[in-house]
Amino acid sequence: MTTRVAILISGSGSNMVTLVKAMQSGDIDATPVVVISNVTTAAGLDKAKALNVNAVALDHRPYKGDRAAFEAELNKVLNEHNVDLICLAGFMRILTPDFPNQWKRKILNIHPSLLPKYKGLHTHQRAIDAGDDNGGCSVHLVTGELDGGPVLGQVAVPIMENDTADNLAERVLVEEHKLYPAILADFIKQM
Ligand code: GAR
Repeated sequence: MTTRVAILISGSGSNMVTLVKAMQSGDIDATPVVVISNVTTAAGLDKAKALNVNAVALDHRPYKGDRAAFEAELNKVLNEHNVDLICLAGFMRILTPDFPNQWKRKILNIHPSLLPKYKGLHTHQRAIDAGDDNGGCSVHLVTGELDGGPVLGQVAVPIMENDTADNLAERVLVEEHKLYPAILADFIKQM
């Protein structure tokens, strides 16, 4: 039985596209069954549809102040699609600890830093400001601690003189697109 994967996004969805293509080409032994965005206007939703993947907009705004209610709706969509595994790919909502507890070892995330450094936002600027030699990206298991679960793989990207957060982000994203499918493929083999 193929592993049924949901991908959660909030924006452009470039990581989602690389994951979907890797599954559709057979490089990852899994099926992308649904892409869910908490941002209704996310460009990634149309990209998912263009790849013939179900795309669902689940606006978080009506659930303001009630993350648990939003997550209950999220679970409804995930269960409707019989999802086995969740990939967060630029999903910018903070989850309550309950959610990863319900999906223990079943949620992966990609984060644009060399974890445990720079959890949270503005990772590239923080690496530049700290004078680090490298930025990078990490794929990790999601636990109740924000960006704190076990790291499954990471890639360092050298920081150049005069780098801005934007051009570092661009070079890191190229590496994200290689790292995430590779880690997901291995993870699924071991499931
Ligand atoms: C990626 O750089 C990803 O690592 C980052 O958002 C970007 C999404 O780009 N994720 C986070 O910052 C999560 N905390 P994409 O929508 O083009 O894949």
